[in-house]
Amino acid sequence: MNQVELIRALPKAELHVHIEGTFEPELMFEIAQRNHIQIPYQSVEEIKQAYNFHNLQSFLDIYYAGANVLVHEQDFYDLAWAYFEKCAEDKVVHTEMFFDPQTHTERGVEFATVLNGLKRACTDAKDKLGISSQLIMCFLRHLSEEDAFKTLEQALPFKHDIIAVGLDSSEVGHPPSKFERVFAKAREAGFLIVAHAGEEGPPEYVWEALDLLQVNRIDHGVRSDEDPALLQRLIDEKMPLTVCPLSNLKLCVVEDMTEHNIHRLLKQGVHVTINSDDPSYFGGYMNDNFLAVHAALNLSNDELKQLAINSFEASFIDSAEKQKWIATIQQL
Ligand code: ADE
Ligand code: ZN
Repeated sequence: MNQVELIRALPKAELHVHIEGTFEPELMFEIAQRNHIQIPYQSVEEIKQAYNFHNLQSFLDIYYAGANVLVHEQDFYDLAWAYFEKCAEDKVVHTEMFFDPQTHTERGVEFATVLNGLKRACTDAKDKLGISSQLIMCFLRHLSEEDAFKTLEQALPFKHDIIAVGLDSSEVGHPPSKFERVFAKAREAGFLIVAHAGEEGPPEYVWEALDLLQVNRIDHGVRSDEDPALLQRLIDEKMPLTVCPLSNLKLCVVEDMTEHNIHRLLKQGVHVTINSDDPSYFGGYMNDNFLAVHAALNLSNDELKQLAINSFEASFIDSAEKQKWIATIQQL
């Protein structure tokens, strides 16, 4: 099997995908029309032309605008179901999806509306496609600590449906320390913890995510590379980084995929995984990310297998399931 065939054949777990970032323009138009909500675009082509980002904020402005058309439970179901169909195409057999409740509750959409729509899609994905999934609720870090506390309160009745709590949105100027107390409360309530850190923000934010939030995984983390002591800690603790190569390229975290550090980090023994982040906006789903990395950095079959194994090891599924998928990968 050559590398491209192997990429398609490997079972994979996706650990870093924002469900609002899977919103394809075609579905956005359809939902906007049925909800009678105006969007500032005349056509799907016009939407795609707007996807011309130069940093994280320029993307987030468009991403939040797109999410405004999501109102009803069925909208959230349709959004997640469309993503699960992409998972099936890419052999993503398990996914841990972020959702941003504040993006919706700020507009008057009930927390339960969002969660019930997503949850129903997760159940159908298991029944109809054999794909397992978990939900991770993210706090928007550009909003206040008080707002995050309020969101955590809203999530408590749905604790059994949400595996972890995360931190996303505009990184620079909003360090993990801003949310130390909210995350302590989330940990006490029994949530696992993840946080975006070291995407645009400095290595200090990764240290804070580790020390203050006590994360189980770091989302992105690619700037950890700038701090040798931090890198050594990530290696020693086998701390997973959920890396998103096409996202890093589109948001100008790297200038060219040949300059991406994922291959070097893998060779150094960092527990890196490949993920799509916001695939509708960044030009590709899971396999597109693997293919782009392989085309630029020429990974061996063993390295590609290691990336897939890492995705299951870093996931929140039970150890019997992990072992089952890892054994399947090793036999390929
Ligand atoms: N929200 C959606 N995608 C994100 C990203 N890549 N970084 C931070 N917040 C996000
Ligand atoms: Zn992200």
